[in-house]
Amino acid sequence: MQTNPLITIVLAAGKGTRMASARPKVLHPLAGRPMLLHLLDTLTGISPTATVVVAGPDMVELTEAVADHPLSPKVAVQEERLGTGDAVKAGLAATEISADDNGTVLILFGDTPLLTEETIRSLMQARAATDAPGVVVLGFRTPAPGAYGRLIVNADGHLQSIVEAKDASPAELALELCNSGLMAVDAGLLPALLAELTNDNANGEYYLTDIVALARSQGRTCAVVEGVETELMGINTRVDLAAADAVIQQKLRRDAMAAGTSMHDPASVYLSWDTEIGRDVTLEPNVVFGPGVTIANNVLVRAFSHIEGSSIGEGAIVGPFARLRPGADIGTAASIGNFVEIKNAVISAGAKANHLSYIGDAAVGPSANIGAGTITCNYDGFVKSKTDIGAGAFIGSNTALVAPVKVGEGAITGAGSVITRDVQAGSLAVERTEQRSLLGWATKFRNARRKQNS
Ligand code: UD1
Ligand code: MG
Repeated sequence: MQTNPLITIVLAAGKGTRMASARPKVLHPLAGRPMLLHLLDTLTGISPTATVVVAGPDMVELTEAVADHPLSPKVAVQEERLGTGDAVKAGLAATEISADDNGTVLILFGDTPLLTEETIRSLMQARAATDAPGVVVLGFRTPAPGAYGRLIVNADGHLQSIVEAKDASPAELALELCNSGLMAVDAGLLPALLAELTNDNANGEYYLTDIVALARSQGRTCAVVEGVETELMGINTRVDLAAADAVIQQKLRRDAMAAGTSMHDPASVYLSWDTEIGRDVTLEPNVVFGPGVTIANNVLVRAFSHIEGSSIGEGAIVGPFARLRPGADIGTAASIGNFVEIKNAVISAGAKANHLSYIGDAAVGPSANIGAGTITCNYDGFVKSKTDIGAGAFIGSNTALVAPVKVGEGAITGAGSVITRDVQAGSLAVERTEQRSLLGWATKFRNARRKQNS
């Protein structure tokens, strides 16, 4: 069956002035992923025929950020930021749409990334159900409509026009029904509507929103589908960004709890978009996840731990106050305690590093014990070198392991040693000066001091 094409155009060329940032607004992250990629992920679910992202002329990072996305979007450049209407023109020029096409163009804003697939589908259904559908707009109600465009609806319930806040009358500003920016437009009609746009408004921009009144003047029906603010909020400022992040965090926490994770204080746990957590995992308060973390079943992550780019094996205990950096691979039932930092290191099953350590560029064998204060000296200012600790080895407290170095299976290092040479399996390596004991010295010393002070 031949289906009509569905072209999605994502506007992302805006300067994002209100973010006060050198980074394009749509690349600011939510739960560790650029907001634009969240939106593209959602679009993947509706399988568009083609997707175009409209970028500014100076947005190399944006092209790079979308390059590997499964949707393979085309990037169209809007040479001058003349407004959302002009941006759609730039996007349309990158497609093969002509006036005799039957398809639909779905226009989305890169700064409105919380949208769900379900909501997009409801918009598409409304478009399919309308006679002579011109433009179907996704709207939402909010008690604080602020700078959003207002949707003007007729007595018959049809959408008549969209008025930008800066151009609105006091009566229009009082309306609570706002424009989310998401629109489905008849592909054959859109080029003609865009050609008619003018920039005769408060901002001197070509407003996309004006296509509604233009479509109506051509006898086309326009409609509103209502969604919810938590999905449709636009991100223009850092305050908006934080509010959107809170929405995503709440969803991620709920999903994790539904899948078998306990959280003592969910609001204090910060997850990443890709955090994968098994069943019967407990996250204590104030745990922060960066991207790329996988946690197996029955893991306990204790309070105030920071974890990124790591995997944690079944039954392991991490924290409190642990830091797992990229490449930390914590084995089954291993234990990583307070003020321990692990980077690019395999900690095998049952191994323990429970107190005050740095383990970087290392392999720690099964059931090895890393004493308090142990440091792998992995970096000499130029190169990083590896430390290899065998199964069952016991690293005494405050050992400095100067890499590259190997400690054999079952070996022991004496507390306070600086280990610069390989230690044979089953051996003791101790490196420190012999202890001297001066009998009675302390008593004599105190007595002398007391005399001086009296
Ligand atoms: C826009 C809408 C407003 C709506 C709100 C929803 C217009 C004129 N206004 O306002 O009705 O309530 O979004 O969040 O459409 N962009 C370009 N090129 C440009 C200008 C903008 O690509 O020349 C992109 C931006 O990167 C952004 C999107 O279009 O992703 C919206 O632009 P923005 O400046 O954020 O518009 P708002 O003021 O939020
Ligand atoms: Mg916006």
